[in-house]
Amino acid sequence: MRVKIVAGNWKMNNDMKASKSLVKKVGKSIKNNPLNNTRVIVAPTFVNLERVVKKAKKSAIEIAAQNMHFEESGAYTGEISAKMLKSIGVNTVILGHSERREYFGETDQLLAKKVNTALANELEVIFCFGEVLADRKSNNHFNVVESQIKNGLFHLEANAWTRIILAYEPVWAIGTGETASPEQAQEMHDFIRKIVAKRYSQEIADEVSILYGGSVKPSNAQEIFSKPDVDGGLIGGAALSAEDFKAIIDAI
Ligand code: PGA
Repeated sequence: MRVKIVAGNWKMNNDMKASKSLVKKVGKSIKNNPLNNTRVIVAPTFVNLERVVKKAKKSAIEIAAQNMHFEESGAYTGEISAKMLKSIGVNTVILGHSERREYFGETDQLLAKKVNTALANELEVIFCFGEVLADRKSNNHFNVVESQIKNGLFHLEANAWTRIILAYEPVWAIGTGETASPEQAQEMHDFIRKIVAKRYSQEIADEVSILYGGSVKPSNAQEIFSKPDVDGGLIGGAALSAEDFKAIIDAI
């Protein structure tokens, strides 16, 4: 049975104090609440990762990184390797977020390399993709999503898919307050599962968790999560408030 996941991407927010306090609050809020086949993940910035990992140890929260470099090590000033993440107890990494693609020029080809390095180091990958507004308006969104998934992931062997989580994040819905309708999310998630089934197998498609991301908040989470192919969410803005994040976890 596939797992439900609520993941918070803190992006470039929260200094050390705020990060520790937020993870503590979230940990406390879910403590007395059996999580019922649901994973809760938060992704702080690199500098706060180790402390947050320690803070979260006794809670049900897992910690992810927001990015990593594709090389194992070397002269890459300012970069972070997969092994560095593993060495501080991080087991999951977000790759391909639209902000990385848009502001840092990350291409499908580069992301495929990052995926390989992450998996080679036994990290699990939350792989993000999604169309921009112009693609949706021109009815090209299925093609865009298919090519992002194909180029980033379809070179993998079938057995790698136990460590892949997909996150459909329409770029026009990220941080804009505008959410894809539950029907739009379901339609795309169903499409994604079909292309994974075609490339690999129905079993792999049925097992992979597909998250929706883009302006998920307490007021819309339940409706989005009620769709059969939506297995949870990747949450930005609303993950910065322990109360809102908890409400979104409850919605699942
Ligand atoms: P948002 O961000 O919830 O603030 O729209 C989602 C994301 O970027 O993952």
